[in-house]
Amino acid sequence: MLEFALHEWGGAFLRWFHVIAGMAWIGSSFFFMHLDASLRAHPEIAAGKGGAAWQVHGGGFYEMKKYLVAPDHLPAELTWHKWQSYTTWLSGFFLLGWVYYAQSALFLIDPAVRPLTPMAAATIGIGSLVLGWFVYDLLCKSPLGQNENLLAVLGFAFVIGMSFFYSKMFSGRGALIHTGALMATFMSGNVFRIIIPNQKKVIAALLAGQAPDPKYGKQAKQRSIHNNYLTLPVVFLMISNHYPLTQTSAIIPVLVALITFAGAIIRHFFNHWHADHTKAPWWYWGAAILALAVAIWLSWQAAPGRVSLLEAETKVAAKAPPAASAAAEILQTRCSMCHASQPVYEGLLSAPKAVQLETSEDYARHLKAIALQAVVTHAMPPNNLTEITFEERQVLALWIAQNNR
Ligand code: HEC
Repeated sequence: MLEFALHEWGGAFLRWFHVIAGMAWIGSSFFFMHLDASLRAHPEIAAGKGGAAWQVHGGGFYEMKKYLVAPDHLPAELTWHKWQSYTTWLSGFFLLGWVYYAQSALFLIDPAVRPLTPMAAATIGIGSLVLGWFVYDLLCKSPLGQNENLLAVLGFAFVIGMSFFYSKMFSGRGALIHTGALMATFMSGNVFRIIIPNQKKVIAALLAGQAPDPKYGKQAKQRSIHNNYLTLPVVFLMISNHYPLTQTSAIIPVLVALITFAGAIIRHFFNHWHADHTKAPWWYWGAAILALAVAIWLSWQAAPGRVSLLEAETKVAAKAPPAASAAAEILQTRCSMCHASQPVYEGLLSAPKAVQLETSEDYARHLKAIALQAVVTHAMPPNNLTEITFEERQVLALWIAQNNR
C-alpha cells in the first residue's frame, strides 16, 4: 500500500514543482517581451542598438537598458535566464511519465482508439516528442524557414497534424497532453539548442575581439518569437485534460487549431499593446473570442451523449417510468469499483477527486458531474475500463433528466 501513497504524493510534488517552474519561466518571458516592447531611445545608446525603459516595482525605480548586440564591455556578472525553461521541461517530462506512462490504463490507453501495450504507448509518446523536435528544428533551419509567415503556417499545420496522429493513438486526454508536451518541447528545445548556444557564440566572438555574426541573433529572435506565441496555447493544453468536453477524439485537431489561434492572437494583441497603447488592435479580441466560441459550440455538437440527454428530456415529457433504481445499479456496477470509500481498483487509495458513488445521496449530489462525465462525454469510466454500454448511459440520461432541477 505504501507505494500507492508515495505515487500519489510524488505526483503532487512533481506537479507543484512543474507549475512553479512554469510560472517562473512564463513570468520572465512575459516580462522581457513587455520590456522589449516598451524600450525607448536613450542618449547613451546609439539608434538601433537598443534602448531604455523605466519601471517601478516593490518600492524602487529601475532603469532598464538594452544593448544590441552587446555592451562595449562585458559585465563581470551576468544573469542567464535558462533554468526556468529547463526545469519546466524536465519536471513536465517526469510528470507526464508519472501520471500518463505509469498509469496508462487509466489515462493514456483507450482500447477503443488503439489497444496499445503500456510500453508501446510510452515509446510512441516519448519518441514523438524527440522526432517532433527534429522536424520542427529542420523546418526552421530550412530555406522555408527564411519566410516567417510561411514558417508559421507550416509549424501550425505540423502541430495540428501531430494532434491528429495522437488522437489516433491515445485517449482524448492522452492526445491533448501530448500535443501540449510537443509544443512545450519546441519551446524548451529552442532555449536549450538555439537561444542560449547562439548567445554564447556571440559572447565568444566579442571576447575574441571579432564582430559576432548577426545570423545568430536573428535565429535566436525567431525562436524566441515562436516561444512567445506558443505560451498561451500550451498552458491551455496542459489543463485541458481536466475538462472532458475537450476530449472527444474526432474534434481534437480542430480544437487544437482554434485554441492555438486564439492563444497566439491574444499574445499578439499584448505585444502591440505594450509597444503603444494607442495603437492596440482591439479587434484581435473579437477574433479570439469567436475562435473560442466555435470551440465551445463544436465540443457540444461532437459530445457523444448530447443527443441521449435531449432524447431523455422528451421521454420525461412522455412520462417515462422512474429510472432511479436502474441508474443506481449501473452506477454501482460501472463506477463504484473506483468511486468508493475503499476502491478495489488497484492503485487507488480513496475515491478519485473525492467523488464517492455508493448511496442514493451520493448519486443525487453528483448528478451534474455524472451527466457531464458519463453521459454527455464518455470521459468516465476512464477508457471504459468497466465496459459500460451506450444503452446504460441512456438510462443514466433518463434518470438525470428526471431528477435535474
Ligand atoms: C477505473 C476507475 C474508475 C471508474 C470505473 C470510474 N471512474 Fe470516475 N474517476 C476516476 C479517476 C481516476 C478520476 C480522476 C480523474 C482526474 O484526475 O482527472 C475520476 C473522476 C471522476 C469524476 C470527477 C471529475 C472531475 O474532474 O471533477 C466524476 C464525476 C466521475 N469520475 C464519475 C464517474 C462515473 C459516473 C463513473 C461510472 C459511470 C466513473 N466515474 C467510473 C476513476 C474511475
